[in-house]
Order: sequence, then structure tokens, then C-alpha cells
Amino acid sequence: MALKQGEILTAIDVMRDAAVIPVIVLDDVAHAVPLARALVEGGIRMLEVTLRTPAALACIEAISRHVPSAVAGAGTVRNAAEARAAAAAGARFAVSPGYTSAVGEACRDLGMPLLPGVATGSEVMAALDGGFTELKFFPAQQAGGAAMLKAFSGPFQDVRFCPTGGVSPANAREYLALPNVMCVGGSWLTPAELVREADWARITQLARDAAALRRG
Ligand code: 3PG
Repeated sequence: MALKQGEILTAIDVMRDAAVIPVIVLDDVAHAVPLARALVEGGIRMLEVTLRTPAALACIEAISRHVPSAVAGAGTVRNAAEARAAAAAGARFAVSPGYTSAVGEACRDLGMPLLPGVATGSEVMAALDGGFTELKFFPAQQAGGAAMLKAFSGPFQDVRFCPTGGVSPANAREYLALPNVMCVGGSWLTPAELVREADWARITQLARDAAALRRG
């Protein structure tokens, strides 16, 4: 998919771009641009930068500004204020660990696609009520894994999931084989020690391997 700079994305665009969305934790803004370039080089350009560190917003801003071929999004968005701060920093999509109508409405007002996190049928129903049909299944392994998503496919045929949490190269294929899974999320592409050591070549290789995963 060719992406134009500044083009408004949908949640589907975010999910279908590659089989894996990397979940990124950055402590040092100096790592943001080379890390994003390394991931793009490997074929992964939808980047979820989690709002878990003081540097996160500056990292989103740096990637948005200096790596036009990447699409910086914000992860761990837990309230409306964080959604607004992420959008102001240049985030083009948001991912949240759970769903609240406040986060949903804030993202809708901002025109920022949101993948809200769900782990139960009631949470899927709340997200559907809010108008969201592309959801993060979190924490995927702990909340029932691929078997849970198979069970969700009956009552929630119109929902597409991005399972995240405990997903790895060992089990990603099992998730990606499910018709209601469009992509998976995970932190394995950006291990803390490789980021600390600035080993961008190894991160590119991890991204390349992830980009080669196929959906079922
Ligand atoms: C998270 O939000 O931390 C993600 O679920 C990543 O989980 P993982 O480290 O198990 O991939």
C-alpha cells in the first residue's frame, strides 16, 4: 500500500499493512529515528510507540518528522488526554490496552484510528457500541489465546482482531491462520538490549522475518 504523507488512515489500513505491529518501548529519543528506519528497512512501517516512558511523545514526534516512510502510532493510550497528546506529537493511530468510551470518542474527534483492547465478550460489545470493529485482543496468550479468538468468531463475525501480549515467532502463525485475525502485535521485534546496543541490523532482520509471516 502506498501511503501519502499526512493521509488519514483507517484502523483497517493500520492492521493490514503488515502481519506484525511492533510494540515499542523507547527510553531515549536518540534511538527513535534509527529504530524506525531499521524497522522500515525490514518491511514494517506501522510502529506502535508505547506511552510508557517520558521520552515516548518526543519519539513519536521524531519519527513523524524524520522517517516519512514510517507511520508512528501511540500505544498504551489510557485516557483522552493521552490520545490528544499523542495526536499532537504526530501519532497517526492509537492502540489502547482496554476500551473506554472516553478514549473512543477522543480518538474519533481527533480523526485518529484506534485499536481498542478487549479480552472478554462484554468488552467486545462495549467497543462495538462505540463503533469500533477492529480490536486489539489483549493480553492474547493470557486471555485465552487462539482458542478464544476462534470462539469469538461465532458471535462477533464482523470483528477483526490484532492479538497482542505473549505473541512470538513461535505462535504468531497460529493466530495469523485465523480468519478474524488481520495482524498480531508484539515486542519481539525490538528487544530492549538490541535497542540499547543500537544493533539496528539485527532489528532489521527481525522485522524482515516478521514481514515475511503470512495471514491464513
Ligand atoms: C504490551 O502491551 O506490552 C504488549 O502486549 C506486548 O506484549 P509482549 O511483550 O508479550 O509482546
